[in-house]
Amino acid sequence: MNPTIEDQVAELTRPYAGAPSELIQALHRVQGQLGHIPREAQAAVAKALGVPLSQVRGVITFYHFFRTAPVGRHTLRLCLGTACHVRGADLILKAIREELGVGLGETTADGAFTVEGVRCLGACGLAPVMMVGEEVYGRLDPKRTKRILRQIREGGG
Ligand code: FES
Repeated sequence: MNPTIEDQVAELTRPYAGAPSELIQALHRVQGQLGHIPREAQAAVAKALGVPLSQVRGVITFYHFFRTAPVGRHTLRLCLGTACHVRGADLILKAIREELGVGLGETTADGAFTVEGVRCLGACGLAPVMMVGEEVYGRLDPKRTKRILRQIREGGG
């Protein structure tokens, strides 16, 4: 029988048991192993370290690198930095929403895409820009964005 999430978390947080100041370390370890921190894991971390569940949730919400849901096969990073903002990043986000049915911080129901917003992808000259996986797509417009996403999906994503 596979170990439950509670068992796994108890094992992973053993070095931090009863040490509330190690909360972030413990969460990193749990996410490193499980890929994300679902509700059951949050409760198990709270119990192991002796901190209120609300504190665990607060930390996860505050630090964007903690995830409460699994990541999609493709991570789409949309740049929301100044150059991209000025050149219509919000229209690109709208196109992404229309094409994928999800917004920032969300994963499509089929697990194909996780959408994230980032501050700058270092390609401001190509604004507006997004990355899908390691691939950079610049000079986007809503139509092209949708076409790219469709192609990635049809390509077996
Ligand atoms: S602001 Fe978008 S790439 Fe720099």
